[in-house]
Amino acid sequence: MTPDAVDRIRALVRDVPNFPEPGVMFRDLTGVFASAQGLRDTADAIIATAPEGIELIAGLDARGFIVGATVAARLGIGFVPVRKAGKLPPPTTAISFDLEYGRATFELRDTTVNAGQRVLVVDDLLATGGSARAAGALLRRSGAHLLGYSFLVELIGLAGRESLEADPEAGGVPVH
Ligand code: PRP
Ligand code: ADE
Repeated sequence: MTPDAVDRIRALVRDVPNFPEPGVMFRDLTGVFASAQGLRDTADAIIATAPEGIELIAGLDARGFIVGATVAARLGIGFVPVRKAGKLPPPTTAISFDLEYGRATFELRDTTVNAGQRVLVVDDLLATGGSARAAGALLRRSGAHLLGYSFLVELIGLAGRESLEADPEAGGVPVH
């Protein structure tokens, strides 16, 4: 990402203390997505570091849908939603995980990823890495060839990158 784009995006992020619970500094990206320039910068940044040969973008419920689908549309490839529990009709495969605040379950509709299909996981923000680790593991269990992970924002203090890179089931691929 160019320094100018970083500055533009930073200016659109709102820091909200103690949301959704005490002690959490919430990075609200709504302003980035509401801005045409912010959305363009987001897609440019992710595409600039994207690996070669991506066939499918997997986006994480819900903010990862905004970023992931924007990137997929720009690349001219498909998008698959990794959804929170109970939203997709069966058959699905599920995995549960811990968040910075709380616990959640992701589901992937069976047969949306072909065996060996080259998939990039895209999300708005990397915090503890719990969501991305779960999504990566779920995609690999479904037969995906996982190419890596791309995020617009990384909360460095939470060491999500390290936990993702080192995860036995979801790691071993680049994290941007
Ligand atoms: C947020 C964010 C990431 C995840 C990051 O999603 O969009 O998906 O948390 O946290 P982690 O690295 O600790 O897992 P959230 O579950 O709040 O859902 P939302 O996108 O529906 O707001
Ligand atoms: N998802 C997990 N932690 C978050 C944070 N601190 N701000 C925004 N989204 C988040």
